[in-house]
Amino acid sequence: MTRRALVTGAAGLIGSHIVDLLVHEGWQVRGLDNFEPQTHRRGRPPWINEKVEFIEGDLRDRGTITAALDNVDVVFHQAAYGGYMPEITKFVHVNSFGTAQMLEVIREKKLPIQKIVVASSQAVYSEGAGNCPKHGLVFPSVRPIDQLRKGDWQVHCPVCGAISKSAPTPETAPVGGETVYGLTKVDQERLVLLWGKQVGVPTVALRYSCTYGPRQSIFNPYTGVIAIFCTRLLNNLPPVLYEDGEQTRDFSFVEDIARANQLAAETYKLDGLAVNIGSGHGVPIREIAEQLSDILKINIAPEINGEFRPGEMRHLTSDTRLARSAGYEPTVDLSDGIARYIDWIRAQSDIRDYFSEASEILKNKGIVHRVAR
Ligand SMILES: NC(=O)c1ccc[n+]([C@@H]2O[C@H](COP(=O)([O-])OP(=O)(O)OC[C@H]3O[C@@H](n4cnc5c(N)ncnc54)[C@H](O)[C@@H]3O)[C@@H](O)[C@H]2O)c1
Ligand SMILES: [Zn+2]
Repeated sequence: MTRRALVTGAAGLIGSHIVDLLVHEGWQVRGLDNFEPQTHRRGRPPWINEKVEFIEGDLRDRGTITAALDNVDVVFHQAAYGGYMPEITKFVHVNSFGTAQMLEVIREKKLPIQKIVVASSQAVYSEGAGNCPKHGLVFPSVRPIDQLRKGDWQVHCPVCGAISKSAPTPETAPVGGETVYGLTKVDQERLVLLWGKQVGVPTVALRYSCTYGPRQSIFNPYTGVIAIFCTRLLNNLPPVLYEDGEQTRDFSFVEDIARANQLAAETYKLDGLAVNIGSGHGVPIREIAEQLSDILKINIAPEINGEFRPGEMRHLTSDTRLARSAGYEPTVDLSDGIARYIDWIRAQSDIRDYFSEASEILKNKGIVHRVAR
């Protein structure tokens, strides 16, 4: 029997790849997206799959989401406002309220939805897990701003204060969210998982690691380090590294994230759970900048100005054992994925630098700080 899906955020990086995968797999797909201007400065992007019933509209509009949910088996809820922007109310409105209202509509209308897969994030953690030489696996808190002001970027063991090394973070690590975005991702996953248990609908929250790949917005200077560094380099400007550039992240190619969504929809093994989806490897941000400038053959050294973002994790590598136990296996490694992203971005026209302006806004609003001299 043909399965019917609603993908929210269907024009975005991850949503559009989920759409393509599901169409390829024979699903009947409806997409909802409002072309959020920060992501889609030139309006409707050219990659929307022609086989999709596409609704241009806002998730927050009750009538729109009600119509979008009609005759659907599985919801892949990807729409969200993301990044380090200062609009607290917009994060809460799109991510928290938008999700809550969608669940309310499903219950109110008694819609026969069989599963909801919600996009969560590694941003729900406070700091990545650490390994203390004395205490083994520890879960440090976010680094205090006073520590960062002194230019001490290290993560310290919460028990003895020794420098702890990065360790893969399991799903059992404390969840908090140290940015407004992170907080609303916690809201989204908790709302969906809790609601699922209450009403008896299987739900899964996928905590994606940093996701990149073709279609990642070239306009959004607030999220997506690979896209931001590329657009800087293509404008002959240095990528700006926060802290000392040695912080690490776990990167996932977007097609792997799409496959994780299909898996979560089709297996019962992850039902009711929050699940890390990542590569399991941490890569220093400085290396990303270097790799990009090598492949692009634009030899501009990254800039380090002692800037930092309070609340940002130092290291985050996903412990992916749970996802792997259900059959998840990433297939695209970082160098191949970056090469594919660069092929794509080279084919885009009019790549501008939006970072310089955004950077001034973030400094003025106290989101980006600088070490005290
Ligand atoms: N890209 C990452 O590194 C990453 C990491 C962890 C989690 N996530 C999560 O994955 C999901 C997809 O992210 P992405 O990277 O594809 O981002 P994206 O910005 O490319 O896509 C999000 C899409 O949602 C749409 N959207 C935003 N607000 C909407 C609204 N009110 N109504 C309808 N549509 C709306 C946008 O227009 C956009 O097309 C998000 O929930 C995000 O929080 C992304
Ligand atoms: Zn210790």
